Amino acid sequence: MIKISPSILAADFSKLGEEIATVESKSDYLHIDVMDGQFVPNISFGFPVMESLQRVTEVPFDVHLMIDRPDQYIDEFIQRGAQIITVHYEACTHLHRTLTYIQSKGVKAGVAINPGTPVSVLEGILPLVDLVLVMTVNPGFGGQKFIDEAVGKIRQLDEQKSKNHYDYEIQVDGGVNEETAKVCIDAGATILVAGSAIFKENNREEAILKIIQNANSKGS
Ligand code: DX5
Ligand code: ZN
Repeated sequence: MIKISPSILAADFSKLGEEIATVESKSDYLHIDVMDGQFVPNISFGFPVMESLQRVTEVPFDVHLMIDRPDQYIDEFIQRGAQIITVHYEACTHLHRTLTYIQSKGVKAGVAINPGTPVSVLEGILPLVDLVLVMTVNPGFGGQKFIDEAVGKIRQLDEQKSKNHYDYEIQVDGGVNEETAKVCIDAGATILVAGSAIFKENNREEAILKIIQNANSKGS
């Protein structure tokens, strides 16, 4: 069962409530990209936007923190409805502490790796983590091209998962569209994040269905 998490970064912020209403019925999560202008060279949005979103939707928030030292803000994201919090391996000094803290609050803990970071650095936390996010673009911007070389990492995570009976989700983020979704799902991805491929289309439900159908299609 493929899960879809539309990234609201690609939505029209002047009418965010309406934008979310167009994807709600076909979405498992809403992907919320928080950027601090330090860890990534862009600033997106933060707490006030999440508070507004909490009032208009029941879809669970999948919060992707592209911020340095995210441990400082975990409680505040939880107060604003985060049900998954994903931090970057590259941004955490005490990754194990941060992940277990998130879980101690009853929230799912994810770890993300940039395209230049290998899966091997995650060995120590794979037994405990709820989600691994494989970035298929360099984080910071929507609308970038999918990096094919990252697919091998999805496969490695899937192999580790079966071999060791781990049960994390494998999420893919960046350049996911009807063409690239299939290779991700075939490699073992379980949650697809897509921004432009959904919000830049007129019919969002149809866009989501196409991504799912193509990902499920037989053949290469
Ligand atoms: C990139 C963000 C992504 C982004 C994806 O740093 O983490 O979630 O919104 O956008 P698309 O799907 O347009 O590549
Ligand atoms: Zn993201």
